[in-house]
Amino acid sequence: MGKIIGFSLIIFSNIFIGSVVAADWSILSQRFRNELGDSLKKYCESWRINVEINNIRGFEVVPQECVGYIKKYMTSSQYKADSEKALEEVKLYLSNCCTLDGDGKDAWIFDVDDTLLSTIPYHKIHGFGGEKRNVTSLEAWMKKKNAPALKPTLNLFHEIKDKGLQIFLISSRRETLRSHTVDNLIEVGYHGWSGLSLRGLEDELQEVQKYKSAARQRLVDEGYRIWGIVGDQWSSFEGHPSAKRTFKLPNSIYYIA
Ligand SMILES: *[C@@H]1O[C@H](CO)[C@@H](O)[C@H](O)[C@H]1NC(C)=O
Repeated sequence: MGKIIGFSLIIFSNIFIGSVVAADWSILSQRFRNELGDSLKKYCESWRINVEINNIRGFEVVPQECVGYIKKYMTSSQYKADSEKALEEVKLYLSNCCTLDGDGKDAWIFDVDDTLLSTIPYHKIHGFGGEKRNVTSLEAWMKKKNAPALKPTLNLFHEIKDKGLQIFLISSRRETLRSHTVDNLIEVGYHGWSGLSLRGLEDELQEVQKYKSAARQRLVDEGYRIWGIVGDQWSSFEGHPSAKRTFKLPNSIYYIA
């Protein structure tokens, strides 16, 4: 933020020194505001894109000056369009990637939060990524079982299931939230998955990324072929074994390592 203000002040003082007339004051200050707004928007968009491509990792909060921008994006039709595009690519991949053996061992993995269910209603009332993650209040919200479905993922979920793939949900939610999670998923239209992995006590001692790759290892050990993963966190894809393809949904509100 300091940099942006400093930069804009230099522009501003150049304009100011060059041509100051009292009547121009409001025009100048308007121009100053526009330039400041433009460079802030660019900064926040770069921040967001670099989160998505996994250059920025492990952030605890969205930079304060970008909270409004991230909120605008995550509640916009652009966020919806970006998610839909990612899921269209899944369909394209599935239409020509593979012949399924039909032996019940073809598998697909989904994350839960901000992949199948949206936490945006929670973040709308909790600072939209601008406040440090509060597990107590987040879990209290999850227990209310009111998380809405991400509609495009709901459609894809059933398309994948109808193709004969076994669906596994691997979530960083804790095991204590199992019944709430199942109820919430069913309530908004998800059903027919083959497994739901949640974090038990011992899993909480390790990083989510390691817990998730261990869950995939168990599937591979049971003979499943993992054709793909849809998730909103890079920690859902990293480590071994991976999947033949991974599809990232946008999420610049929080980062789970
Ligand atoms: C987290 O949320 C709980 C429940 O709403 C609240 O009591 C607590 O003070 C919060 N903790 C922090 C660090 O904000």
